[in-house]
Amino acid sequence: MPRPIIAITRPLPEPAHTLLKKVGNVRANTRDRVLPPNELRKFVAGATAILSVIPDQIDEEVLAAAGPNLEIVANYAVGYDNIDVAAATARNIHVTNTPGVLTEAVAEHTLSLLMATARRLVEGDTFMRKGHYKQWEPLGFVGPQLWGKKLAIIGLGRIGSWVAEMAKGGFGMQILYYDIQRNEEFEMRFQAIYHELPTLLKLADFVTIHVPLLPSTHHLIGAAELKLMKKSAILVNTSRGPVIDEQALVRALRTKQIFGAGLDVFEHEPKLTPGLAKLPNVILTPHTASATGEAREAMSRIAAENILAVLAGKPPLNPVNPKS
Ligand code: GLV
Repeated sequence: MPRPIIAITRPLPEPAHTLLKKVGNVRANTRDRVLPPNELRKFVAGATAILSVIPDQIDEEVLAAAGPNLEIVANYAVGYDNIDVAAATARNIHVTNTPGVLTEAVAEHTLSLLMATARRLVEGDTFMRKGHYKQWEPLGFVGPQLWGKKLAIIGLGRIGSWVAEMAKGGFGMQILYYDIQRNEEFEMRFQAIYHELPTLLKLADFVTIHVPLLPSTHHLIGAAELKLMKKSAILVNTSRGPVIDEQALVRALRTKQIFGAGLDVFEHEPKLTPGLAKLPNVILTPHTASATGEAREAMSRIAAENILAVLAGKPPLNPVNPKS
C-alpha cells in the first residue's frame, strides 16, 4: 500500500511534522504564507489528511480537489468556521479541532486586552516614544479600574469560563453572562448573573466575546447593541471578527459612544475596516490570542494525533462533524 499523503498547509511548531512523517509522506508548505485558493487546491490533491490553519478556506472545491483518498481535515485551531463541515460530512471526511489546550492562552490575551485598553497602554507607549512626556500629568491617560466592575461574558464555553475565573479571582470583578443556555453551576461558583443580551450590554462595564462564528452570531454586536452599552464601557473580542459589525464599531469608537475596544480578530481579516487603525481608543493584535509557545505546541500535537488516529482506522479524538 502506498504511504498516505499528509498535506500541512503552513509551517507549524513541532511535534506535528515529526509525528506525522512516521506514518505518511508529509507534503509541507515550507513558505510561511497563506496558500491562495488555486494553490491550495493543487497542494491538497491526492492527500489522505490535511492539516489546515485558520486562513485556509476548506470548502467543497478544496475537498473535491483533494480527491477520494481524503479522510480527515485537522484544523490547527479551536474554531473551525473556515471549514465547510457539512460538505466534509457529506463526503464522510472527519473534521477536527484543538480544544482545551489554548483556553488559558486565549483567556490571558483577553485579560491583556482588557487591561491594556482600560489603562491605555498603547497610547501611553506611543506618547513616550514620540518624546511627548515632559512632565507628570495628573489628568493624562486616565482610564477605568477593573476591580469591582461588571464584566459581561458573551459565550460561556471553556475560554469564557476561564476568563471569569481570572477576572473574579484576580480582579474582584462581578461576572455577568449571556449564552444560549444557562449554567447554574457556573452561576453558583462565581456568583454570576445571567442576562439576555440587551440587559447584559446595558449593565456591563466591560464586555468580552467568546462565541463561535455561526450564522446566529454573525454581527451579534452591531449598531443597536453598541448603543445599549455605557459610554464608559470597553469591548474585547478574541473570538471571530464577523461577530462584530466593524463599521458600526468604528463609528461608536470615533464618536466615543463607548470608551474603547481591544480586538484580536477582524471582520475582514487580515484587512481592517477603514478608520479602525486611526483610532486611539482601540488596541489591535494580529489574531495572536493563542500565541503562547505552550498552546501552539499542544495544538500541533493534537492536530497530528487526530490524523494519526484516523490513519490507524480509529475515530478522531476531537471530531466536530455533527453526530449522525
Ligand atoms: C484561534 O482563533 C482558534 O480558533 O484556535
